[in-house]
Amino acid sequence: MRQVDQIPPLRKVLSQFRSRGERIAFVPTMGNLHQGHLELVRQAQQRAEQVVVSIFVNPTQFGEGEDFESYPRTLERDARLLREMGVSLLFTPTDTVMYPDRSLETQDTMWVEVGGLSEVLCGASRPGHFSAVATVVSKLFNMVQPDVALFGEKDFQQLLVIHHLVKALDFPVEIVGVPIFREQDGLAMSSRNQYLKATERKRATEIYRLLQWMEQQLESGERDFRGLELSAGKRLQQSDFVLDYLQICNPQTLQQADHGENELVILVAASLGAARLIDNCRVSLR
Ligand code: PAJ
Repeated sequence: MRQVDQIPPLRKVLSQFRSRGERIAFVPTMGNLHQGHLELVRQAQQRAEQVVVSIFVNPTQFGEGEDFESYPRTLERDARLLREMGVSLLFTPTDTVMYPDRSLETQDTMWVEVGGLSEVLCGASRPGHFSAVATVVSKLFNMVQPDVALFGEKDFQQLLVIHHLVKALDFPVEIVGVPIFREQDGLAMSSRNQYLKATERKRATEIYRLLQWMEQQLESGERDFRGLELSAGKRLQQSDFVLDYLQICNPQTLQQADHGENELVILVAASLGAARLIDNCRVSLR
């Protein structure tokens, strides 16, 4: 596995792949890799001859008071895992490679504006977050120019933003969503799970149990969406979660779903101790 942190050597290796007619699949990450990330890599390997993974803890997508400083950085271990999986190329750009003139705080920085999708749910509680994600992913797409890029459905809103980005700005890349990879007890894998203390870790699985309960309620005919959101939200708060949102939404627009809608996604974000956890569940009603 080659590891490069500058753009010219990245382009050089990529052009070698392309000159051999090989397809390139891309998995962008912020590192501290877990089985969920590795599942993206596995699926990438099934879609292309060469897999490129990037690790970059993107400062611009963290809000004030969020965990940018403490975000776990485990590059050596990550590189070993990727090497063992047979990944061809690991791209680990530095802050200066990604934002060369350090202009992130200045007026002349260019941003990708996301629009309505960035104003709800996680976008409402993390202003600027999805614009920063769309911007860094655009830059990474321009650097790597992959044929296909894989993103996790765990970050459902992010995946939707990326679909929107690629369509709106005509990136010639196929976007593939990969189902949520879970711990045995159902907790969605996340780099942030390690912020949980042992007792919190046990309780964290309540989010998944609640999503399953809501799904069952919907499948057995419950149609009072707002009522269901309220009672599930209360149950989370009773288990000491600080609820950010818990909503039954339209999976395309992320607006709260109305009575007659059959394609739904339940989206939840809640903090437990120092960890902000997100999860979701798609529901198709017949
Ligand atoms: P990160 O949180 O490292 O996640 C990288 C990718 O792994 C994302 O597409 C995310 O949805 C996916 N992923 C994380 N946990 C998962 C799980 N349990 N099951 C399936 N997929 C999972 O998301 C980011 O980084 C950043 O915002 C990034 C896109 C790299 C831009 O900076």
